[in-house]
Amino acid sequence: MARAIALEIAHAEVVRVTRPRPSSLFGAGAVERIAREIDDREIKLAVVDAALSPVQQRNLEKAWRCKVIDRTGLILEIFGERARTKEGQLQVELAALSYQRSRLVRSWTHLERQRGGLGFVGGPGESQLEIDRRLITERITRIKKELEQVVRTRALHRRARKRVPYPIVALVGYTNAGKSTLFNRLTEAEVAAEDLLFATLDPTMRKVRLDSGSEVILSDTVGFVSNLPTQLVAAFRATLEEVTEADVVVHVRDAAHPDSEAQAADVLAVLRDLGLGALVDEGLIEALNKIDLLAPEARESLLGRSRRNAAAVPVSALTGEGVPALMGAVDAQLASSQSLTELTVPLQDGAALAWLYRQGQVVSRDDGESHARLQVRLSAANRARFERRFGAESAADDPVAGPA
Ligand code: GTP
Repeated sequence: MARAIALEIAHAEVVRVTRPRPSSLFGAGAVERIAREIDDREIKLAVVDAALSPVQQRNLEKAWRCKVIDRTGLILEIFGERARTKEGQLQVELAALSYQRSRLVRSWTHLERQRGGLGFVGGPGESQLEIDRRLITERITRIKKELEQVVRTRALHRRARKRVPYPIVALVGYTNAGKSTLFNRLTEAEVAAEDLLFATLDPTMRKVRLDSGSEVILSDTVGFVSNLPTQLVAAFRATLEEVTEADVVVHVRDAAHPDSEAQAADVLAVLRDLGLGALVDEGLIEALNKIDLLAPEARESLLGRSRRNAAAVPVSALTGEGVPALMGAVDAQLASSQSLTELTVPLQDGAALAWLYRQGQVVSRDDGESHARLQVRLSAANRARFERRFGAESAADDPVAGPA
């Protein structure tokens, strides 16, 4: 996870904690030993893969003389870097502030307990904490208002974000499945050809040419993590918002991981929650990654499975094996995903009609008293987008029996 925000890992180790210490989590010996390690290697940041109390965090920072963050802190950093939309950034900031505030609250009560009810109010430490807390609370209130505003003007935002003039292929998957490795492999030949338009794009989006000659934007996304702290769920979804704009979603799986199935189920559940059920059912391509790690038997069984199911492609992002087949599957998916859909749209819903003409291919149109009936070629992704934007009524397949 640390690599996801380009931190350079100088040292990593497992520390056995038999009795977690309230003051420092680790025992005194371990704290000292790690302090030397940090000093020797001039380490600037220590990440503890656990939940640290504010006191533990402060004490470790003092002992190690470097910044210390815990799991939630790291995830917040990652989300902060990945959030692209205004909404996403606000959600992440909101989560970060709530996290900070809870720490202030806790160290506040901690101080109070220390003072043991001496009966006076005030004191420099205390008032500073109180000020910090009030400032954070104010900022949280402001962000919540801004978020409401953003949600109200969401349609405007979408337009402002401008549609990229190429289909979007998003890589999603559990953390460590190999998304970034695959992204780099798929785009390696393209880096040199990066043109100005895309130099301004996010580094996690890049244009790729498929064998058919069609060009797509490949988009890498933040990885799914296990035990996502609940206060981070909204922020995580917001960073994934771009996936809802994707035409094809490639689910990168670590086929060599013992929990591969459970990880996949987690990922699919979140995608459904994001309103991508249609895509999950019809448009998902599975990249069964890391086949170079599999024993010959397991490998054979995967290859057999992919012969029966063209949407599951065994690959190795590391060696490149299977990667052309994966791109072939993406190509085929894009070509076949435009299906004829019948829609009934209220005539006064100019925005919905205009959207259909822009995003789809209107094959026929039959105007009634109040509704237009259209046959439109739309991809499953666009179909889902239409439903989200213009609601169920517009998207009804059957003639609407509403007001004539
Ligand atoms: P997050 O950014 O945490 O979501 O991870 P990710 O899905 O982007 O994974 P990443 O590409 O960083 O790869 C995780 C680890 O798996 C790295 O150590 C890669 O070198 C390794 N890896 C990726 N693909 C393969 C593969 O095909 N074979 C093998 N053996 N290792 C791989």
